[in-house]
Amino acid sequence: MPWSELIRPELEPLIAYAPGLRVSQVRERAGMDDVRKLSSNEHPAGPFPRALAAMAKVLPHLNRYPDGGAIALKDRLSEHLGVARERIVVTNGSNELLCLLGQATVRPGDEIVFGWPSFVVYPMVAAMFAAKEVRVPLTSDDAYDLDAILEAITERTRIVFLCNPNNPTGNIYRRDAFERFLDRVPGHVLVVVDEAYFEFVDDADYPDTLHYFDGERPLAVCRTFSKMYSLAGARIGYGVMPEPLARAVDKVREPFNVNTVAQVGAYYSLADTDEVAARKADNLAQKARIYAVLDRLAIAYTPSHTNFIYVKTDRPTESFQALLEQGVIARDFGAAPALRFSIGNDDDTDRTIAAIERIVADSGTF
Ligand SMILES: Cc1ncc(COP(=O)(O)O)c(C=O)c1O
Repeated sequence: MPWSELIRPELEPLIAYAPGLRVSQVRERAGMDDVRKLSSNEHPAGPFPRALAAMAKVLPHLNRYPDGGAIALKDRLSEHLGVARERIVVTNGSNELLCLLGQATVRPGDEIVFGWPSFVVYPMVAAMFAAKEVRVPLTSDDAYDLDAILEAITERTRIVFLCNPNNPTGNIYRRDAFERFLDRVPGHVLVVVDEAYFEFVDDADYPDTLHYFDGERPLAVCRTFSKMYSLAGARIGYGVMPEPLARAVDKVREPFNVNTVAQVGAYYSLADTDEVAARKADNLAQKARIYAVLDRLAIAYTPSHTNFIYVKTDRPTESFQALLEQGVIARDFGAAPALRFSIGNDDDTDRTIAAIERIVADSGTF
């Protein structure tokens, strides 16, 4: 049988997610040991110390299945967020949650609207469920354009994904724009706000989506332990949504979708608000150092509310390669005139700055 008859045709245009280059690949290519992976917005430090100790303790018990209901973690999240446990869903990374929301709601031929450039998983969700993707350009300052998103909504729209802060650009929409949007968005549309970088934002007008739940409105928020909490390799995220939607997501998820190590790690990370505050302050300090150099060299960038910076360049391929040769792995986006760098520790910042300065010295431009 030809594979094209077996495999769903709507998967044809999809390209499997391409992870950033691994350190070992670059070590070989660049012939250097000290390589900095700044391509996936991971935190430079390991998991929180209490989380690490608790995760080590459960290893001898991995002969048992995890708690399929993530009860202890949901209770802790419920307390931490001030929302009922029944409205919380815990998933294998927030990526899984984005897919499960699609699985629970999208019919073939529906439309899924999102800003672009944005997180690559949104078009993947559309293709997975045979929906039509509708990409809406960002504002001139690289944030989601909520008015343009409203314009793009039709009676076929099932989901609107809002990425705030947006990956890869790092900018946010603010409270007044979100409130205007919520007043006008039609009731048949599920609004999914992806707040993967929530913990890094330092802006008084950033809207915390949780404040806008009224029990009725089809609104969901997705967050992750992969970024601020350094649990990317453990795979755990969560969502908050109205109860009927949480129950639907529960029906389509795998029974043991979140492993024990991840659940325990997340549980013991949440309480450590001092560590979160310290990491947030350090992230702001590292960004300030990089901005100062970009400003001095007149390199354009989007001021970021996250742990990454979107740096503009007319020569993304050349600059990406030149960075690699200096052992810095950035993220490129094909034709997009920009590269994205994750913010790391002091050392990573030194390396990033030295690499950018060297490229400008060698080529006269970035
Ligand atoms: C905007 C956004 N959403 C979701 C995710 C998925 O994160 P995870 O599945 O690790 O929770 C990422 C990861 O980079 C992201 O940038």
